[in-house]
Amino acid sequence: MPLIHPLLAGTALVPDSLLRDENETVEPHVLAALTRSLGAATGIWTAILRHDPVNRWYTRLVLSGSVEVWLISWCPGQYTRAHDHGGAFGALSVIQGPVTEIACDADWRPRDWRQHERVASLTFDRNHIHKVGNSGTIPAATIHAYSPPELPMRYAPDAAEQAVEGFLLENALGGAATGDAAGALAVGGGRP
Ligand SMILES: [Fe+2]
Repeated sequence: MPLIHPLLAGTALVPDSLLRDENETVEPHVLAALTRSLGAATGIWTAILRHDPVNRWYTRLVLSGSVEVWLISWCPGQYTRAHDHGGAFGALSVIQGPVTEIACDADWRPRDWRQHERVASLTFDRNHIHKVGNSGTIPAATIHAYSPPELPMRYAPDAAEQAVEGFLLENALGGAATGDAAGALAVGGGRP
């Protein structure tokens, strides 16, 4: 049986085609349409969303044979470790923002960075590697969808992660790469 958050059940925000048990891979544009429509349902996600300055907060909204969907919050200074998605396609929509993304090469080296403003949506391919977080001063939130679901993710080794953090401090944080700034990074595992 697919899992769906009680506040989404019966709303038609998640199409029946994405709530089947059969294993199926969904294209990125379908994932993006889903995260966008969920992001537009402000009344629903605001009732679910929490911000936790101590531990990065996230909750799963949907799990079926074809997709998993997560609602994730980012307090200022909270970041993922650089990670892949186990070969899954993905999409994310920024519902509170902005959030910062550092894209990495296949060998975990930081390639570029972007700031995604609120309501921005993006898709990513099976081989996408990135670090995501909040380099701003206000809480942020995102909705993520992946297909196929529940593929095991890989995380950057320590030395590579340090290089990505250095890139973040030098670029996205405007060169405020002092010891204090580095110490303020709250990096956690888990989704996205
Ligand atoms: Fe990710």
